[in-house]
Amino acid sequence: MRKALITGGAGYIGHHLQKELKRHNFTVIVVDKKPQEELMSDKYLDLYIQGDLTDDAFVDSIPKMEIDYVFHLAGLIEVGEAEAEPIRYYQNNLISTINVLKLMKKIKCNKIVFSSSAAVYGRYYDEDPVSVYGRTKLMCENIIRDAEAEGIRSVSLRYFNVAGADPSGEFGENHRPETHLIPRLLTLSDFHINGDDYSTPDGTCVRDYIHVSDLAVAHIKAAWYLGHSTGVSRHFNVGSGSGYSILQIISALNEFYDSIGHKPVSYSVGPRRPGDPASLVAEVSRAKQFLDFVPNYGIEDIIATAYQWEVVQQRSPKNE
Ligand code: UFG
Repeated sequence: MRKALITGGAGYIGHHLQKELKRHNFTVIVVDKKPQEELMSDKYLDLYIQGDLTDDAFVDSIPKMEIDYVFHLAGLIEVGEAEAEPIRYYQNNLISTINVLKLMKKIKCNKIVFSSSAAVYGRYYDEDPVSVYGRTKLMCENIIRDAEAEGIRSVSLRYFNVAGADPSGEFGENHRPETHLIPRLLTLSDFHINGDDYSTPDGTCVRDYIHVSDLAVAHIKAAWYLGHSTGVSRHFNVGSGSGYSILQIISALNEFYDSIGHKPVSYSVGPRRPGDPASLVAEVSRAKQFLDFVPNYGIEDIIATAYQWEVVQQRSPKNE
């Protein structure tokens, strides 16, 4: 049985990845700083190790074990927070990545799949990030890729806008504070669009939304890619290749609400949020060519599963 270690595996994406790894018969080991009692579920993991990957003593204390693949998800992820606290973000994201690579050398694991982000792209899809967060991710990609000289092969997955929830309702998006569009649309009674004067067809920002369960599948495909002896280190965009504006998401949500007899979303338009690019849509041909990855779920599934999760959490606004 193959063994996978997920760093930061107790979060939103980590839970979906645990489930997908189990579906493929992996032994699943999670390292995360969150206490185990705070997990949404521990049904799909075999071993949980609580600790902070920036703490050298903790990393040294992780027992030697045979691991086939590391999925490195641990990291701080708030774009706005990173602008205000760059040192903490660089310290956390870079040191934890270096410590994970050191751990891999110690346990003789040579394959890593890294959670990167579309935030590594600049204004023209060049690798010139506009945010501190994006720069930490690009630096980590480079550190990981350089580790190839020491025998570690890698895939960096550049996530676009991850959304939706486990289709059977076991887990879903659970950030505190929640900054992401879809959960906010589903739960806030005073939702604001962050600006409608962008240079996009309807003036609102365009993003590429990918269902979190599809993203989990992309990780398995990345592991298979690395499992082939010829799989050199690469990065891939993980998105659908289609962009939706905020108004298009609202209209898709209203169609869904209409189908279940729910009242439409009420919203207003506020000012722009600093740092938002007008449009970010993934170029997906390389992921298709090298990983054979194509998403299974569309925007309707993303909305329906995210809604179902908010209902489970009793967070959706009352329909009255
Ligand atoms: N938005 C609103 N109102 C809200 C929340 C969001 O209008 O209440 C808008 C945002 O301004 C943006 C769009 O909805 O235009 C999507 O915003 P999200 O916060 O959901 O997602 P982002 O595109 O800002 O961020 C995502 C990931 C980041 C990653 C980034 C890459 O969440 O981790 O993509 O650009 F860094």
